[in-house]
Amino acid sequence: MKFFIDSADVAEIKEAASMGLLDGVTTNPSLVAKTGRPFKEVLLEICDIVRGPVSAEVIGTTHDDMVAEAREYAALNDNIVVKLPLTPEGLKATRTVSREGIQTNVTLCFSAPQALLAAKAGATYISPFVGRLDDVSDDGMNVVADIVEIYRTYEFPTQVLVASVRHPMHVLEAAKLGADVSTCPLKVLLQLAKHPLTDAGLEKFLEDWKQVPK
Ligand code: E4P
Repeated sequence: MKFFIDSADVAEIKEAASMGLLDGVTTNPSLVAKTGRPFKEVLLEICDIVRGPVSAEVIGTTHDDMVAEAREYAALNDNIVVKLPLTPEGLKATRTVSREGIQTNVTLCFSAPQALLAAKAGATYISPFVGRLDDVSDDGMNVVADIVEIYRTYEFPTQVLVASVRHPMHVLEAAKLGADVSTCPLKVLLQLAKHPLTDAGLEKFLEDWKQVPK
């Protein structure tokens, strides 16, 4: 399973990249707004740090506006994946730009039937938002399980990118289901490495080492 970081913060992206774990980056308009920086400037800086797919989300809502933005972003760097919303217009735009060879990430997916449509439209990635589904008493991982099963049955090449990840258990479940990618905030990537017994064990080893004659 690939690990992407869900962030537009260059310092966070550099930290995750330095752990040697990073396969790509997802951004969204809210994450970009938090940086207080112009989008294209941030995007190009991210592409210099990570040699993998970097998702850049369109803000247009019509086919034509989304296609124009998609072409503009895709021309900036070969690693850019254009993120389009799972709306009827977004699906139309996905079909248009996929046929031009532009990589796409269909976002704001909350059901398996929606994911089926995205695959048929030629999406490179589908992003089911597991945390936001859990927030409304639905089961985000159930939706991921259905998507993985449907994509395998019909051999769709669309990759399942588990998004809106809130904690390590989401990542574990995504891996067990065979999802292709988990995109996580830096906090979750760091939590994955943490275990209290690792910390306690290391502390004890270092303490005991002091008794070793030098
Ligand atoms: C995915 O691409 C989105 O940027 C993201 O995972 C949304 O996460 P949130 O629900 O924590 O905002």
